[in-house]
Amino acid sequence: MTEVRQPNHHPSSLIPHPSTDELLRFRAKFPILANTKYLVSHSLGAMPEAARDALEEFADTWASRGVRAWGEKWWMMSIDVGDVIAPLLGAAPGSVVMLPNVTTAEAVVLSSFEFEPPRNRVVIVEGEFPSVRYVYDRLAKRFGAEVITVGYDDLLDAIDERTQLVPMSHVFFETSFTADVPAIARRCREAGATLVLDVFQSYRRSRAAVVKRAQRWCWTSFNPRESFR
Ligand SMILES: Cc1ncc(COP(=O)(O)O)c(C=O)c1O
Repeated sequence: MTEVRQPNHHPSSLIPHPSTDELLRFRAKFPILANTKYLVSHSLGAMPEAARDALEEFADTWASRGVRAWGEKWWMMSIDVGDVIAPLLGAAPGSVVMLPNVTTAEAVVLSSFEFEPPRNRVVIVEGEFPSVRYVYDRLAKRFGAEVITVGYDDLLDAIDERTQLVPMSHVFFETSFTADVPAIARRCREAGATLVLDVFQSYRRSRAAVVKRAQRWCWTSFNPRESFR
């Protein structure tokens, strides 16, 4: 005889059981979860206990190898760590590089472009994350860029043959508004501009799928020969 279970709406029924939720076994690896419910998932997400050991190992290497640590380990570390993370993102080995944070990454990308007229514009949408904004409002101008800020609805029209870069969030941090990236990537490709996509917020929402799509979008806008799908 089949047992028919009634729906159980008691809050405890919403807590997954360790036997059915394989992620629960990772809780113990994050000390802060022993004392609190910690929902922060950005740069100051719950520290894994393993970070303590990694920091100690770093200090030991510095203490024992001094400047030799660069050649022996640290020089390639951002790529080595990128290769560890790549499979989690569904990315190919050698295609992920670690930088200290998103703001620094935006500055690094920015610094690798020329801003010679007539293609010297950065087109940015209102509502970008403040620290990213500062990079474009201040640093980009020092590189000779003309920074054009537009409302989201005017973005496609603002991207033209004068546009070098379009840095933008996939999901905006204040409003959760999700940009129509395929349309923007397509416009960038038509105009010969480069899209720099910040998936900080969307990566957390749907993880690898977003990164995979982001790679395709960004690659598409980088490479005019690639057909857009
Ligand atoms: C969309 C977006 N971009 C950039 C950042 C800043 O990231 P970081 O502190 O890694 O520079 C944030 C932080 O919340 C963000 O939400």
